[in-house]
Amino acid sequence: MTPAVQVRRAVKSFDGVRVLDEVDLTVHPGQVVALIGPSGSGKSTLLRAINHLERLDTGVVSVHGELIGVRAHGDRLKELGEREILRQRSRIGFVFQGFNLFPHLTVLDNITEAPVVTQRRPKARAREEARELLARVGLADKAAAYPRQLSGGQQQRVAIARALALRPEVVLFDEPTSALDPELVGEVLGVIRDLAAAGTTMVVVTHEIAFAREVADAVVFLDRGRVVEQGPAWQVIDHPEHERTREFLRRVSS
Ligand SMILES: Nc1ncnc2c1ncn2[C@@H]1O[C@H](COP(=O)(O)OP(=O)(O)OP(=O)(O)O)[C@@H](O)[C@H]1O
Ligand SMILES: [Mg+2]
Repeated sequence: MTPAVQVRRAVKSFDGVRVLDEVDLTVHPGQVVALIGPSGSGKSTLLRAINHLERLDTGVVSVHGELIGVRAHGDRLKELGEREILRQRSRIGFVFQGFNLFPHLTVLDNITEAPVVTQRRPKARAREEARELLARVGLADKAAAYPRQLSGGQQQRVAIARALALRPEVVLFDEPTSALDPELVGEVLGVIRDLAAAGTTMVVVTHEIAFAREVADAVVFLDRGRVVEQGPAWQVIDHPEHERTREFLRRVSS
């Protein structure tokens, strides 16, 4: 079976420092992978590399078998043009820590913007689908609201609906709850839990270890740009093999 996402030997340096050091990652269709690790370990960089917001120095990313951001040119890789990159990005949903909704657009227009403008889907159909997505994230009554009228948790649920509106093949989450007040975390995790149950392929960077343990199929522990340990969630979290993983888990759960 072709993996939904495959990262092979990803290397990325900033100012001479290796932030990703030969990272391999495989995500199968329908799988949820949680990426955990200390601050600065390269989690966001890896996620951003998957949709080519970050260009790798060496190594490749493919989504359902298609190289992302580059094309093979003999034995070299050539970067794709902006249009091709945007087309590929629309196959990959991305939800950030700080929701990044358009403040001047209603909730409904935030969700339909990309499907209508980028994917050229009929507006009426896009609006209908946006309403379905809003119902799915528990916000059917907020279609006409503006982002500033919503709580952080509600805004993040709109951001998730917006990512799903592109019908992505995989959805990437970068600490989707870390900007939220504690009492709003649960509602966003609940939406992600529902997506997992519906078979959505996801990579989730999170500090919510209990959530990763419950929802993720696999957990990948990154430290200083390297995959130290990966495996089934119960194994990595309940029975970590490496001292560095144990130390990290002790620190985040205390
Ligand atoms: N555009 C950039 N220019 C220079 N350095 C960068 C850039 N982006 C990331 N870095 C550095 O790369 C390292 C990894 O950053 P990254 O954001 O991937 O870590 P992270 O694991 O997501 O951390 P956190 O948990 O704090 O979000 C850090 O040392 C960071 O300072
Ligand atoms: Mg980060």
